[in-house]
Amino acid sequence: QIIDWDASSASKEGYTHFMLKEIHESPIAVKDTISGFLNDMETVKEVAEEIRRANRIIVIAAGTSYHAGLYFSLLLNRKGYTAIPLIASEYYNIKLSKNDIVLAISQSGETLDVKMGIKKFKEEGAKIVSLTNVIESHIARESNYKLYMRAGPEIGVAATKTFTSQLASLLFLYSVIERESVDYLEKAHEVVRNVITETEGLAKKFGEELAKKSNIYYLGRGLGVPLAMEGALKIKEIAYIHAEAYPAGESKHGPIALVEKGFPVVFINYGELDDELEKNLQEMKARFAITYSISVNKKLNFSDFEILVNADERLSALAIAPIIQMIAYYAAVKRGYDPDKPRNLAKTVTVE
Ligand code: G6P
Repeated sequence: QIIDWDASSASKEGYTHFMLKEIHESPIAVKDTISGFLNDMETVKEVAEEIRRANRIIVIAAGTSYHAGLYFSLLLNRKGYTAIPLIASEYYNIKLSKNDIVLAISQSGETLDVKMGIKKFKEEGAKIVSLTNVIESHIARESNYKLYMRAGPEIGVAATKTFTSQLASLLFLYSVIERESVDYLEKAHEVVRNVITETEGLAKKFGEELAKKSNIYYLGRGLGVPLAMEGALKIKEIAYIHAEAYPAGESKHGPIALVEKGFPVVFINYGELDDELEKNLQEMKARFAITYSISVNKKLNFSDFEILVNADERLSALAIAPIIQMIAYYAAVKRGYDPDKPRNLAKTVTVE
């Protein structure tokens, strides 16, 4: 049974690390994701129909895949669906019925916590849809409908291009559920490519600055929240800097107590709710925090440092994902760590 891709036969092709190579492969990954979905429109339509008919949509995943699942759940909930994002290891907290549908998201398709959740939900009569990268993985085999990301092999332990590909897959599925055109996704890979080209220098600067810190907050609002969570996870995983993510409004209810002169706060300005986000930024600045923003289409006023990108607003998540990954990558390298092999972590976790 193949769990990980064969690292020994893979090459870094001139990149210092697989992680950086794989971030740079994100555009091609996204392109392959979208063409894969277009070629498998029949399955996508069937899944969309099942989701429209379902009582609830349980989105189960772990780690980075959970953040993609949370993003998808927010999209659906905003349209009146009842999507429940579920951290895989907490699968026992919910009882399903045959009117519920489960979407299991897993790059490897082998994560034990996700497998255990699926097993329980199948026994309860729910149908399972999987979104995996590895073809015919365990989770794919156990599901009623199989969707594939087709992002290609990922060697770096911390997920990068596969996260961006998950977001692209889920945007595609969401548009089909909503009976919207998916044409805008055919240009998605170009957005990802431009973002990487245009922001790598600045992301390196952000990363190298953050590398000096021992605590960081990542704040966002709305659809920016899952990306803030992923930004914080990435920097913890490979740069070993304590980072926490919060919905920006919630930061007043506790987290702000830690903010003092020089405390770094990264704002994920998704391109919605920016007035509210700006108020939160002012609150942080009033406590002498150093503020870093990653913004789509509109600057966040008063931020100390800013990375601004322009993109179709429906593709904001795909624009932000590579930036938070590059920041974490350059922070890790600056601190002298090998981002490809973070301590204590495994690419695929097959234990409870
Ligand atoms: C491990 C990896 C993470 C990954 C998570 C879920 O913890 O280190 O990068 O996000 O597993 O993996 P999956 O294969 O289910 O997406």
